Amino acid sequence: MKERLEEILGNAKKEIESIKTFNDLLNLKSRFLGKKSEIKELMKFLPTLPLEERPDFGKQINDVMKKVESLLDAAEISLNEKDYHNTVKSSQFDYTMPGRPLQRGTLHPLTLIQEQIEDVMISMGFQIADGFDIEDEYHNFDALNHPPEHPARNLADTFYVKSNTVIYPPPSPQKSQSEIGTTGWGQNSLLLRTHTSPVQVRVMESFPPPIKIISIGRAYRNDRFDLTHSPVFHQCEGLVVDEGITFKDLKDTINILLKKLFGNDCKSRFRPHFFPFTEPSAEVDVTCFNCSGKGCPTCKYSGWIELFGAGMVHPNVFDMIGIDSEKYTGFAFGCGIDRIAMLKLHIPDIRLLFENDIRFLKQFSIRG
Ligand code: DAH
Repeated sequence: MKERLEEILGNAKKEIESIKTFNDLLNLKSRFLGKKSEIKELMKFLPTLPLEERPDFGKQINDVMKKVESLLDAAEISLNEKDYHNTVKSSQFDYTMPGRPLQRGTLHPLTLIQEQIEDVMISMGFQIADGFDIEDEYHNFDALNHPPEHPARNLADTFYVKSNTVIYPPPSPQKSQSEIGTTGWGQNSLLLRTHTSPVQVRVMESFPPPIKIISIGRAYRNDRFDLTHSPVFHQCEGLVVDEGITFKDLKDTINILLKKLFGNDCKSRFRPHFFPFTEPSAEVDVTCFNCSGKGCPTCKYSGWIELFGAGMVHPNVFDMIGIDSEKYTGFAFGCGIDRIAMLKLHIPDIRLLFENDIRFLKQFSIRG
């Protein structure tokens, strides 16, 4: 029996070596491994053998089958290779022809700036927060200490949304629905947020201090499109709340961000300003990176470019949300992402950022 098996293996080797076509391969496969093959026939003897000889014989049959299988596999691979070379040789394929260039997608300039700012802020321990584009009047104005008669609430500045629905989560755990909303429409109207500052309120409502977040997103104002205005634009909002936070922390944070964005030579100046939700408040200018402060058309010959609004969180804001304003202080800042993108990437018209013209967008493939 053993001799017969060896004989079969020897035959298989010889025959497989002489395979020339896929047909030969198929024939040999069925001859040596098929149902009616000699090996399978030999298997039928297994039950007739004495018990102690069966394992050994079974193993011998298996070994031979495996060897034949691997010889056939190798033959198939070499047939495939030969076939491939023959096809390529006989075809009119021109290997010297240059390939078609791959079209690679690029990141939108606003995304580039957003990612850069997020990277810097994350490295300083900030977390990224997200808010709602459709806000309610409470979060956009009231909770940010805007008085009822504040002009920004006007229809000429703000897009209101016609709806009676109040978005979730409810405006404030401290105030009932009837206490808030000051449009005079008798409800907490929905609107397209006019700035990213309501994210501050939402975060403070949901998480206890210490808080250290930024949030980048769209804001909407009832402006006409021109070179520097768009009814949709992008802002970055920053908020830090903890015990013992000072104006120096605000200055240091903004200065680090500015140097990372515009280089180490960039200087800043903080001018007193007014925002309802911060006290004291400041506007932050940077040295014009076009002329390094000498004066040029970009900075309207002043040497400075205004970039940030900022300040210490107003105690009224804390009180309204229910954060202990005796215990905690905080700073906040906001800046326009479109403006930074335009200045940094020399984009002359804000509308280019919204038109999605591939010829324009293709130019900003490099990160940073
Ligand atoms: N929300 C302000 C705006 O849209 C920008 C701003 C100013 C945000 C001061 C702040 C801040 O967080 O503290 O003009």
